[in-house]
Amino acid sequence: MAKKLQAIGELTGGVAHDFNNLLTVIGGAAEMLKKVDLPEEKRARYIDNIATTVERASTLTSHLLAFSRRRAIRPEVIDLNIHLDAWAEILSRSLGSGIALSVKASAKNARVEVDPTELETAVLNAAVNARDAMPGGGELLIETRDAIHEGHVAVAIDITDTGIGMSEETLARVFEPFFTTKPMGEGTGLGLSQIHGFAAQASGIAQISSRVGMGTTLTILLPKVDKTPAAIQQKGRLASIPPGIRVLLVEDNIQVLHFAEQLLDDLGCKTVCASDATEALALLQEQAFDLVFTDIVMPGLSGIDLARQLHIRAPGLPVLLATGHSDQLVGEERAHLRVLSKPYGAETLSAAIGDLSLKPQCSRNRMVE
Ligand SMILES: Nc1ncnc2c1ncn2[C@@H]1O[C@H](COP(=O)(O)OP(=O)(O)OP(=O)(O)O)[C@@H](O)[C@H]1O
Ligand SMILES: [Mg+2]
Repeated sequence: MAKKLQAIGELTGGVAHDFNNLLTVIGGAAEMLKKVDLPEEKRARYIDNIATTVERASTLTSHLLAFSRRRAIRPEVIDLNIHLDAWAEILSRSLGSGIALSVKASAKNARVEVDPTELETAVLNAAVNARDAMPGGGELLIETRDAIHEGHVAVAIDITDTGIGMSEETLARVFEPFFTTKPMGEGTGLGLSQIHGFAAQASGIAQISSRVGMGTTLTILLPKVDKTPAAIQQKGRLASIPPGIRVLLVEDNIQVLHFAEQLLDDLGCKTVCASDATEALALLQEQAFDLVFTDIVMPGLSGIDLARQLHIRAPGLPVLLATGHSDQLVGEERAHLRVLSKPYGAETLSAAIGDLSLKPQCSRNRMVE
């Protein structure tokens, strides 16, 4: 029990810490957006950054939930070289102008199987450490290279700064949870623990070499894999929805409604929107649909109420529910209904729709009186 409590304490601390990093990115971008003379192209990029980071934060919450349910993390095959530019983009914002950031893809094939969110968190943690070690500015290089780890081919990610470096005593303890040399309130000492834990769990290792005044290199070694990256598999998946599926989208929040409508359009669906369940029921009497995609929490009838009614009045009509909470559905209903966690994106939405194996134009799905 004591061990479990300790693990939970470390995990929640770690998540709080990671959230702070993500909030730094969001805050930085929001700050930039306040500038009145910002070119449109930059504005779009900052907004993009915020959106991606929010996605990451939501994945983090799902990790926390996964932990409470004792579910494993989700490894995916990714190519590190492809991620370098995206990291640079995100990091340049949170590092400040005094730090010259560069990336270099020296590894020939950089495919590894890791949980992408954990990896991004690790890189962010390392970059924040580098920033803190260079208060007067400096250089930060993130480079992939081919390597060998325990006799197997591996990819190394070297994160090198030109900062203050570390003493022997510090170096000996850096991977300990809660070890920090930073003042109270500035460091929790969990950044490198996360990196260490991430690398170990991915069958790799994290190493540091550093000398006082000479800068620091953090190396994350990960085993290479010979599989196709998930992004490419996903593309196949996006295409697996038959074109022209008629979707009734029910969502009370106008922003989410527009967003979801856009996603559905991009996936080739024909979308009709309703802003509540009552409007949805009226539309269902007039037209046939292949799928109802509805938010759960709405004023008036909820998405679950709507699904219950449709279960009786249009039994063949698939319903996909969207929710930010995992426990709104109980017992038997769980088996009938498909639930998509919010916030969702094109990939998760298309995967959820793909899983329903819909066939378009089956007009039997019209609601009976
Ligand atoms: N790039 C670096 N250069 C110099 N010292 C470093 C570097 N990275 C880590 N350290 C040292 O290792 C300690 C532990 O790092 P770690 O990232 O685990 O925690 P932290 O940065 O102190 O706090 P947190 O990351 O939780 O905000 C730091 O306090 C610092 O003394
Ligand atoms: Mg740190």
